[in-house]
Amino acid sequence: MVRDVAAKAGLPSDFLWGFATAAYQIEGGATADGRGPSIWDTFCKIPGKIADGSSGDVACDSYHRTAQDIELLQKTGAKAYRFSISWSRVIPKGGRNDPINQAGIDFYVKLADDLLAAGITPFVTLFHWDLPDELYKRYGGFLNKDEFVADFAHYSRVVFEALGSRVKHWITFNEPFCSAILGHSIGAFAPGHTSDRTKSAVGDSSREPWIVGHSILIAHAHAVKIYRDEFKARDGGEIGITLNGDWTEPWDPNDEQDRIACDRKIEFAICWFADPVYFGRYPESMVKQLGERLPTFTAEESELVKGSNDFYGMNHYCANYIRHRGDAVVADPDDFSGNMDILFEDKFGNSIGPETQSFWLRPHAPGFRKLIKWLSDRYGRPKIYVTENGTSIKGENDLPMEEILEDDFRLEYFRSYITAMAEAVAEDGCDVRGYMAWSLMDNFEWAEGYETRFGVTYVDYENGQKRYPKKSAMEMKNIFDQFVGKV
Ligand code: NOJ
Repeated sequence: MVRDVAAKAGLPSDFLWGFATAAYQIEGGATADGRGPSIWDTFCKIPGKIADGSSGDVACDSYHRTAQDIELLQKTGAKAYRFSISWSRVIPKGGRNDPINQAGIDFYVKLADDLLAAGITPFVTLFHWDLPDELYKRYGGFLNKDEFVADFAHYSRVVFEALGSRVKHWITFNEPFCSAILGHSIGAFAPGHTSDRTKSAVGDSSREPWIVGHSILIAHAHAVKIYRDEFKARDGGEIGITLNGDWTEPWDPNDEQDRIACDRKIEFAICWFADPVYFGRYPESMVKQLGERLPTFTAEESELVKGSNDFYGMNHYCANYIRHRGDAVVADPDDFSGNMDILFEDKFGNSIGPETQSFWLRPHAPGFRKLIKWLSDRYGRPKIYVTENGTSIKGENDLPMEEILEDDFRLEYFRSYITAMAEAVAEDGCDVRGYMAWSLMDNFEWAEGYETRFGVTYVDYENGQKRYPKKSAMEMKNIFDQFVGKV
């Protein structure tokens, strides 16, 4: 977490900062008021998939505790809150001809109203990984592009209609890379497909992640078109997609191949989605390596996807060293990374950053500034919202609560990352307008269950779900006060 103290740092005066969560990770209320199951409800029941054998059935019980969550946000001084909508709460079976669940809609309408009444701006994600299980069973979910796109378009329209007068910042999909790669290649996330080159619904399982990515891009673009054509004039909001984004440094800084591999890693993780959204086509490096396994855009699809972002939604957690693998393995159909290795140490044994509970997420704040600049340069200085940034702490869950609340490691993480972002704005001229820390509270960390805590608030799951703000929660405002209005 080294920082260049000499750099200018500042953020615009209307900068929106706050915290983020996602429905399946916090809501619980899995069967409350007519909610249908999502692929995560089903996935959690498969033995061995979740580290502690848990699920989001109860989570932080936020479905019944939104008043407490909003109170928490107010205590921190947050200006914005990013939450996601559970598709299967709104349309339990998910499809365009399936019944709508008014109780689900009412829940989110009230949440948005209560946030606005508390002076907090809602940022709403339509899809944070919890596909209605019925759509997966009915037609394979993302693997059936036409069905999926039509159902997502319908769901989006229903939500825009219900919430559009209240919500002015929309995110279509969160980190589609994870649905595609972790869900359809590694199998660590729902629905748990692995790419083992066996026959699948699409003929060869190694094609699946790329088909999933393609379906999501087209679904995103349709939702954006619907918003722009039918709601924007009425509601005046903005809409974009949120992408994964980790920074890369060469394993050997003197090796040209490693330096090229760094960019290729970013292309495979981020530009996979961002290039189509800004340029209407996939990155050249992906086309070259994946050949016909990468779907192609029809002229009409390319037109639809190109320009489908009012802002760039950036999730960012860490950095890695990248080593080129050698051209012999380029043809490996299971390589989703772009023919390179991801490492924590460079050639000289330097560590990219300290270990955290999610051992692969190594903090390295300078990489945040570099990535913001890299994206800004590639995509013509788009308006950026950082829609997630945060860290777990190694061993945090084993400590007594009093020590967990003194989360200096997390506080320093935020301080260094927010400083790096403020430098990217003031020094590098990037257009960052908002920042949502991950996460408002400890929650269900997907395959890691409840062992890993990303919250600025401690949640005592066993004792009435009580929430205790950690030091980082209460310091966030002081950090932002240093920068907001200084550019
Ligand atoms: C990104 C995901 O969007 C979020 O759901 C997850 O909890 C964090 N990464 C931390 O792993």
